[in-house]
Amino acid sequence: MSQKKFWFGKKKQVDSQSDLTEDNIPRHVAIIMDGNGRWARRRGLPRVAGHHSGMKNVKKITIAADDIGVEILTLYAFSTENWKRPQDEVDYLMSLPQEFFPLEIEELIEKNVRIRMTGWKEGVPGHTLEAVENAIERTKHNTGLILNFAFNYGSRKEMTEAMRAMVRDVQLGKLKPEDITEEEYSNRLQTSGLPDPDLLIRTSGELRISNFMLWQLAYTELWFTDLYWPEFSENHFFEAIREYQNRVRRYGGL
Ligand code: FPP
Repeated sequence: MSQKKFWFGKKKQVDSQSDLTEDNIPRHVAIIMDGNGRWARRRGLPRVAGHHSGMKNVKKITIAADDIGVEILTLYAFSTENWKRPQDEVDYLMSLPQEFFPLEIEELIEKNVRIRMTGWKEGVPGHTLEAVENAIERTKHNTGLILNFAFNYGSRKEMTEAMRAMVRDVQLGKLKPEDITEEEYSNRLQTSGLPDPDLLIRTSGELRISNFMLWQLAYTELWFTDLYWPEFSENHFFEAIREYQNRVRRYGGL
């Protein structure tokens, strides 16, 4: 298999990525960025300090993913269940896009990154949406890595809505029941147009999927680490990629 030396950041070579195989980079990597609260508690800090530190980690991992040729990086940033958290924490999480994009957008544009959102606008405050939509607009012609924020996203809601859309199309005579296929269903999901994730990373030691891309993860390779998201570095990311490259994906075959 061909080998290529990868470079990242400001052209500093990182040993741990130099042994990755160029022709077996996962196209789509999804990350459940968990453990911000515990990271903060361990340091005697408020939970929101953990989210802030987690936000700072987003660009680092995005650039690492881009440098090795990942095409889509989906980050689970806010779930439909996260509304149950205390209001001040929800408010803080909703303020992060306004902080993140003005801070990082220029570098992301320079890197040809395109921002996308998977999730529902309903319920998200106007100021948060404005920041996200502005970033989507400013990067819409970029052709590099797609940085896809799963924000106000939940998989069961997504699947229920896709089902509803399909039933509606059947009622309207646009779709015959016998023409219902996996593809027709996928096309009605929030992730329509994106390939399924090849690799899912979850930080913080929790071994759950937590209502994340239940349909899309059917054949995704899973990789878990005990590290909390704010301490998950580029080298940990490359470690996950390396392990992915050692897996044999059989998709149910032999
Ligand atoms: C889970 O950790 C993390 C979240 C609910 C939020 C993740 C968001 C970010 C990392 C920043 C996203 C950045 C932008 C720009 C939107 P937790 O709070 O559940 O941690 P715990 O399990 O230790 O309490």
